Amino acid sequence: MKTEALFDLTGKVAVVTGGGDGIGKGCCEILAAAGASVVVSDLTIEKAQATVDEIVKAGGNAAATVCNVLKEEDLYALIDFAVKIYGTVNILVNNAGLGGGGRENPYKIDRAYVERIYAINVFAPWELCKLAAPYMQKSGYGSIINISSMSSINNDPNMAIYGSSKAALNHLASNLAFDYGPMGIRINNVGPGATGTRALASVLTPEIEAKMLAHTPLKRLGEVSDIAGAVLYFAAPISAWVSGQVLMVNGGGVQTLD
Ligand SMILES: NC(=O)c1ccc[n+]([C@@H]2O[C@H](COP(=O)([O-])OP(=O)(O)OC[C@H]3O[C@@H](n4cnc5c(N)ncnc54)[C@H](O)[C@@H]3O)[C@@H](O)[C@H]2O)c1
Repeated sequence: MKTEALFDLTGKVAVVTGGGDGIGKGCCEILAAAGASVVVSDLTIEKAQATVDEIVKAGGNAAATVCNVLKEEDLYALIDFAVKIYGTVNILVNNAGLGGGGRENPYKIDRAYVERIYAINVFAPWELCKLAAPYMQKSGYGSIINISSMSSINNDPNMAIYGSSKAALNHLASNLAFDYGPMGIRINNVGPGATGTRALASVLTPEIEAKMLAHTPLKRLGEVSDIAGAVLYFAAPISAWVSGQVLMVNGGGVQTLD
């Protein structure tokens, strides 16, 4: 097989949550560049459409829809939209996520906060897996990629809820790999280290960045394209015998906040 074919997603349909910005947008763009038809979803149609416009301008194929992953009806509508527009779902990127940044003082957060973080980081990915898997099985090609975090393995103050939700996401994938493998579906997680997005900018101070870089052998923070590259690897035929794994993409280091 030629190298190009190992990364070729021509004829495949990809669904991405939170595709209007940051890592999700980078995933949409790289999957479209590899030939996939991409369903870009986000909280507003304007955000999703902006990513679609860039993909189409670059010669790719994409369609925009609204999906707030905190709303169960939106999850159903997202998969229905993909099937209606492109006929099936082959690749699912559970990217939309919230929390972290060292803002979770255990005495200040309440149960509603914890439920919200688990709803977006664990329940929504679980439910989208469940909704998409039958189409993947029927189509004969299925790859699910969840965007986890270095926080799933780090230990930091004020990060217990975000960190544990992402750890749950890792375990969800490694266990579902056993359920989905016989259906011809792979499921893997990508765990970004600190990556230059709007979400990171909201918590990054020069002091925090200096601490992170001190623990980062490659001496820079991540870029969206670093994470998107790992997502492409898991989405594409090159990783045909890889499932249940978590790949940390983190400049080789630890990048704790502390
Ligand atoms: N940036 C980092 O340093 C970093 C590190 C580790 C993990 N992550 C993970 O990467 C993922 C993406 O993070 P990012 O930094 O690109 O964030 P971002 O804030 O730059 O982009 C997130 C996108 O998701 C959308 N979104 C937010 N809530 C949503 C919801 N309820 N339903 C659907 N979409 C929603 C936003 O509108 C936005 O377009 C998250 O799961 C995050 O936990 C990011």
